[in-house]
Amino acid sequence: MWRIKLKFKRKVHLKDISRIRIPEDRDLDNCLRLNRNERVADWHKGFLREVFDSKPDYLLNVYPNSDSIYKKLSKYLKLDKNQILLSSGMDGAFKAIWETVTDPGDHVGVPVPTYAMYHVYNKIFDTKLTQINYDSYTLKLKWNELDKFIESKPHILFIPNPNQPVEDPLSIDQIAEISKRCSENGTLLVIDEAYYMFGCETAIGLVKDYDNLVILRTFSKGFGVPGIRLGYMVSNTENIDHFSKTRFAYESNSLSDAVGEYLLDNLDIVNDYIKKVHEGRNYLKSELSKLGFNCNGNVGNYLLIDFGSKEKCKYYASELEERKIHVKANYSDEWGKYMLVTLGPKETLVPFIDVIKSSFIL
Ligand SMILES: Cc1ncc(COP(=O)(O)O)c(C=O)c1O
Repeated sequence: MWRIKLKFKRKVHLKDISRIRIPEDRDLDNCLRLNRNERVADWHKGFLREVFDSKPDYLLNVYPNSDSIYKKLSKYLKLDKNQILLSSGMDGAFKAIWETVTDPGDHVGVPVPTYAMYHVYNKIFDTKLTQINYDSYTLKLKWNELDKFIESKPHILFIPNPNQPVEDPLSIDQIAEISKRCSENGTLLVIDEAYYMFGCETAIGLVKDYDNLVILRTFSKGFGVPGIRLGYMVSNTENIDHFSKTRFAYESNSLSDAVGEYLLDNLDIVNDYIKKVHEGRNYLKSELSKLGFNCNGNVGNYLLIDFGSKEKCKYYASELEERKIHVKANYSDEWGKYMLVTLGPKETLVPFIDVIKSSFIL
């Protein structure tokens, strides 16, 4: 693409960024999707009809009006609606933050390994990313690296809580302490709560105490609808006003809002599924421990399994792949021995365990 003679000015730093689409080589109708922390069980037939039955016939022939979902979110979160900003998934919120806060060369940081888009936005906005490491043996954050990073007075510290694939959840007291130190240093603290509904505490209550704190949420995980690309950020009204400066004319759309509203009105459906994920987690952990495998996971919709070596991990991943069971087993370096498996209701995980048992090697 860059071999052609440029006919207009382009931002030079974008030249070396290649945006690949995540290869969707999954046979979605027949495979078991355990590789992307999505909802594993399908929504029931008729779900979309139920969602749209309550909506007026003009839903699609007028521009979106998000008042209703803002009201529902404000009630759900017990916050003023001016403290909330909808985004295109949490991804849209990352972009809004980078766009409205950073200049090229600014210093940002995130604990790694983590969600890949942190690296992508760092490149897009030409910032300088410090990776704060987890210990691959204890699966704990290296606090000395975090302390050093905060002391360097960076511009933004992102902390997914829990993180993935390593959860290592932080307590509210720890987040309060980090917020305080960040605020003394002029650092924006962003807590990514993508997985909070599966068991982690939320730091939303701290927003009133710390002006430099932003919480990000999504409908992709606990609510189980990544396809609608809906997320939101929460902070004080001044910050939200600032982050919304570069938003699209409409930050969401009527179809996504309708699904989001339906789920906010029917939280029992959402909570029932989360309960089943917890049951699935207990089942998988107990079966894996009978086979002698260590695994880590208490507060997300995923389990990190230690297969002891990269070779064994690859072996099991290819056995699973052959039966169209997709898992994530492409971590690099010392993380190569780990496999990440998305959790669903127990019955969706039985085929996974069956393959591990039938291909068991010492
Ligand atoms: C830690 C973390 N944050 C954010 C996201 C992105 O969520 P969304 O689908 O809302 O963009 C993911 C997705 O896997 C994630 O793992």
